[in-house]
Amino acid sequence: NGQRLQQVELNGIMSIAHRGASSYAPENTRSAFRKGLDLGADFLECDVHLSKDGVLIIMHDETVDRTTDGKGFIKDMTLEELKRLDAGRKFGDAFEGEKIITLDEFLDEFYGKIGLIIEIKKPKLYPGIEEQVVTLLEKYDDLSNIIIQSFDVESMRKMHALLPDVQIAVLMKPSALLLSTKKIEDLTSFATYINFNISYTNKWLVDQVHKYDGKVLVWSKKDHLLIAKSYQYGVDGIITDFSKWPANDPNLL
Ligand code: G3P
Ligand code: CA
Repeated sequence: NGQRLQQVELNGIMSIAHRGASSYAPENTRSAFRKGLDLGADFLECDVHLSKDGVLIIMHDETVDRTTDGKGFIKDMTLEELKRLDAGRKFGDAFEGEKIITLDEFLDEFYGKIGLIIEIKKPKLYPGIEEQVVTLLEKYDDLSNIIIQSFDVESMRKMHALLPDVQIAVLMKPSALLLSTKKIEDLTSFATYINFNISYTNKWLVDQVHKYDGKVLVWSKKDHLLIAKSYQYGVDGIITDFSKWPANDPNLL
């Protein structure tokens, strides 16, 4: 219950605000990222795509349909068109007028204040997106608090080759339950993190990643056993919409 949640301490497990603190503000917007920072998350996680005119845009889906008042693919829209959309109203009237932000704007506001996880969505849809991310990041001297991640393993292998200073995370699909130690050894040769949905990982997998000096982040939309399982498996961090699990949050119960 809520009272028990109030006592939850993460004791060294990192807390990552998934698409920002996306239970409290529209996902992947400035408001959600600011809320994640306020709640004391260790990292903000965001997703990126490429607009028609080659600008890195923060949004989860490849279309604007679900989270804005517009319709269409990000890759078919210019930055100017995307900036005209309302990315807040669907979440709640209080967020009306919230704009889509670019990766450049995100880095401008949050770099240096908190760790940042940048997920490259569908890299095959955007040839050259890895190089574009590198160009933006090269403006910053210290990349130690930045992680680049993707479900696309080959894109992350390429990213590591392009920018060896930045930490890489590979996101696993449900087939991860069949991961061999050989595959884990290969992935940890370039990725610092191997990340799983909590529903398809287990202690053996987490132990294997640790054996190869990798780290593990887990994510979940709503799994009431997330914290208990995370302790049991010994993960390094939790990617959650709730950030620090504030007490008495009815959404979590
Ligand atoms: O960081 C893990 C998580 O973000 C992957 O799933 O669909 O929310 O991007 P998704
Ligand atoms: Ca993501």
